[in-house]
Amino acid sequence: MFQLKTDEEVELLRQSNLLVSATLSTVASLMKPGITTLEIDRVAEEYIRDHGGVPGFKGYSGYPATLCVSINDQVVHGIPSKRVLKDGDIVSVDCGVLMNGFNGDSAFTFTVGEVKPEVLKLVRVTKECLYLGIAQAVSGKRIGDIGDAIQRHAEINGFSVVREMVGHGVGRHLHEPPEVPNYGKPGTGEVLQNGLTIAIEPMINLGKRHINQDKDGWTIWTTDRRPSAHFEHSVAVRDNMADVLSDFKIIEEAVSKV
Ligand code: MF3
Ligand code: CO
Repeated sequence: MFQLKTDEEVELLRQSNLLVSATLSTVASLMKPGITTLEIDRVAEEYIRDHGGVPGFKGYSGYPATLCVSINDQVVHGIPSKRVLKDGDIVSVDCGVLMNGFNGDSAFTFTVGEVKPEVLKLVRVTKECLYLGIAQAVSGKRIGDIGDAIQRHAEINGFSVVREMVGHGVGRHLHEPPEVPNYGKPGTGEVLQNGLTIAIEPMINLGKRHINQDKDGWTIWTTDRRPSAHFEHSVAVRDNMADVLSDFKIIEEAVSKV
């Protein structure tokens, strides 16, 4: 039904994703007030090229940068610019790498300085949503099981799930079938099979779920202008437990040193 990857292909996807994670760990050390998002983007691009990859997003449908950097009420697809990070910001950094024909795709929401408790909770719960979704990415389960696990945890905590933007298959193309919504009903949707590789990427809003697209054609904002968080891992579906191909551990180690 969907194109399933061989073990060799999954290892190539892992290499691309590990370079994404290493890039995000480099970005972690830059998350301080005063830096521009364009400066962060430049560091990421150089890091990727120095390590044998090419930026996976640059040129994709005309996207102009290496990273998507989305601050506070920006949900995803923020274009790096002269905007300066400030104390109290939350910053989703989404990164793609193309290497050996395969795409890595992962995102992490960073905090800058002192962030309000309710916003810290949003960031923590969004990361928990991602891991609850990943726990459903095993053969025999369905796409709707992933979305249900994410939506349940977000809503029980008083947050809302963005509907219009979804996770996706990932491989030789950045976006492959199937779509992986962050909401759904258990036991519905396509059946997951061993060797399916997907990017799971909950976008969770502190306020209402509705979004708008900027006139720049990319940046997605919350309609109520309240904050939104975003985490993404690329994973391979396996029989007993998903194999997570990107790696937050090296990012979190770098965060703890900022
Ligand atoms: N992880 C994002 C996504 O899957 C990044 C895409 S940015 C784009 O939609 F520029 F490449 F589109
Ligand atoms: Co993605």
